[in-house]
Amino acid sequence: MPKVLISDSMSNVAQKIFEKNNINVDVKTGLSEEEIIKIIPEYDGMVVRSATKVTKNIIDAAKNLKVIGRAGAGVDNIDVQTAKEKNMIVMNTPGGNANATAEHAFALIMSVLRKTPFANETTHKGHWEKKNIKGTELSKKTLGIVGFGNVGVRLSHLVKGFDMKILVNSKSLESRKSEYPHVENASFDDLITKCDILSFHCKATSDGKPMLTKDHMKQMKPTSYVINAARGNIVDENDLNEALNEGLIAGAAVDVFSKEPAKENVLFNNPKAILTPHIAASTTEASIVVAEMVANQLSNFLLNGVEKNTV
Ligand code: MLT
Repeated sequence: MPKVLISDSMSNVAQKIFEKNNINVDVKTGLSEEEIIKIIPEYDGMVVRSATKVTKNIIDAAKNLKVIGRAGAGVDNIDVQTAKEKNMIVMNTPGGNANATAEHAFALIMSVLRKTPFANETTHKGHWEKKNIKGTELSKKTLGIVGFGNVGVRLSHLVKGFDMKILVNSKSLESRKSEYPHVENASFDDLITKCDILSFHCKATSDGKPMLTKDHMKQMKPTSYVINAARGNIVDENDLNEALNEGLIAGAAVDVFSKEPAKENVLFNNPKAILTPHIAASTTEASIVVAEMVANQLSNFLLNGVEKNTV
């Protein structure tokens, strides 16, 4: 009977699916790398979210591991190259949390444009800041979406009722343009200069270099906003902080950080930045969907050799 380790907290739906499929499953969360290295030789499969870093050391120590499943989209916490060298399959759950992420990106857009966190905080304190809070409307504005996978596409549909122009920067859009008549393809430079809201929904670059630096922000409208609910290192945080302080852009909303958990960050206390702790995908619905997807995929691989959503 195959044996699977779930090493991050996730919906118990995953555990139930493994049990129903007669797969032995252990849920052991919060383990250090050393602790995982000690126990990993027992397991045929491993399921993680983002907290466990599946390092080369863990993969090297795994004697029976055949598959690593990520309940989520990004696999940047898994050493995919080493896993492949060891003939291990790495699977993710694309699309499983796309709606949740797109909705959070949209919530960030609305919050930063209407200054909702500041309004909430000051009203709770009995400060009536009505005169000091003037928002910006979405109507007639241009939304720039970088990356047009499941999340970017979903966001483009969510804003349809808001009378916005949508520019997309995506290499793959041209070939599937007919499916998305409501968006226009644009080069990165064109998109950043034209958009009022720039929202990232792409993977981090393979060399880890930021896609958006101060030089780019100098070209953006001073009334524009940057939203990052993708990966922390996509936007240079020091440059973003300076751009906000120097008025190169009007505001930013950030859900992801170069170092997570973010216990300290240059953006902390910048009044023009709204920050959330990587919660874009954290909804009741999405956590069940990704747990179901990853458990079904791993079960089907371990029991029947079926490879689905491999990266
Ligand atoms: C993902 O990659 O699926 C999201 O960033 C969500 C997460 O890591 O929790």
